[in-house]
Amino acid sequence: MNTDEKTAAELLSGDVRQATEDIAAADLSSEEACETFRVRFLGQRSGIVTGLFKRMKKLPQEARPAAGKSLNALRKLATDRLKAGRKALKAAPKLAEVDLTLPGRRAVPAGSVHPITQTLADITGIFRRMGFTVADGPEIEDDWHNFTALNFPPDHPARDMQDTLFLEAPESSSGGIMLRTHTSPVQIRAMAAGNPPFRLIAPGRVYRNETITYKSYCLFHQVEGLVVDEGVTMADLKHVLFTFARAYFSEDVRLRFRPSFFPFTEPSAELDIWWDLPEKPGEGRWMEILGSGMVDPNVLDAVGIDSEKYTGYAFGMGVERPAMLQYGIEDIRLFYENDVRFLAQF
Ligand code: DAH
Repeated sequence: MNTDEKTAAELLSGDVRQATEDIAAADLSSEEACETFRVRFLGQRSGIVTGLFKRMKKLPQEARPAAGKSLNALRKLATDRLKAGRKALKAAPKLAEVDLTLPGRRAVPAGSVHPITQTLADITGIFRRMGFTVADGPEIEDDWHNFTALNFPPDHPARDMQDTLFLEAPESSSGGIMLRTHTSPVQIRAMAAGNPPFRLIAPGRVYRNETITYKSYCLFHQVEGLVVDEGVTMADLKHVLFTFARAYFSEDVRLRFRPSFFPFTEPSAELDIWWDLPEKPGEGRWMEILGSGMVDPNVLDAVGIDSEKYTGYAFGMGVERPAMLQYGIEDIRLFYENDVRFLAQF
């Protein structure tokens, strides 16, 4: 080998060393980087490794085997790195392209609990903590459970207090099938199916043939309560209701227990709370939140419970009104329209 040939061989091996370092250090962290790597080192036209092979072929015969060996190793290094880099990219998410500080994207937006469901849960929770169990009954009722067993006499005007949505007319052989007008028939179902003592609440939907306005709707929700045992008195009723109202509204809520009438309780009372008008400080008004009373002995007799031995109390409250007060909702219809702009606020 002459001097020029020697120099060419040395230059080549120096460039192989440099290329080895460059291949080891090259970026393979993305598809684009892999492609750049491929073109830069292995490209057919101007790839570094390809170029080195071309130069190797111009070396004198005796210098070629050694150079060829190191170039083959170099090419293998490049193809191996490229293969490994692509494999890693396929396996791993493209972390390099993701801003890890971005909040996650929800594939399915989470819904929210309907305010009526929430209010029912709040009310039910308070009574559960006072030892009440939860009972349940059908929304389609017959006359006996909805009215007769609850001591509504056949032609008593009290039946008109509840504009009933009938599925079968009262004159039909069934005596009337209806959408229940209140949750009180669950009292009858529970007592007919078991023996005292009873200590239960019955949350649920009720229906009435009402003109639909901002304050009344054809369906709404109630929570019924029933306690029957030996020696139950009106003091127990008042205690439970006041405890409930303080837990639900506030410890210092003003309460008023006012005489009333229901066919299925005697005596009967309604519970009012004082509600401050937020827009007029210092002003407010009494608002009825529930009906209640001592279970009428006729009701106990209707379900075969000894009314000489047992006494009981019952109560029934609407759910929509407390929900409207609590959430500041002024139109009851909003609860049933399922407008997401409304629902998403809860
Ligand atoms: N059922 C009555 C209504 O719908 C509410 C009611 C009042 C329920 C007094 C009771 C009660 O259990 O004792 O208006």
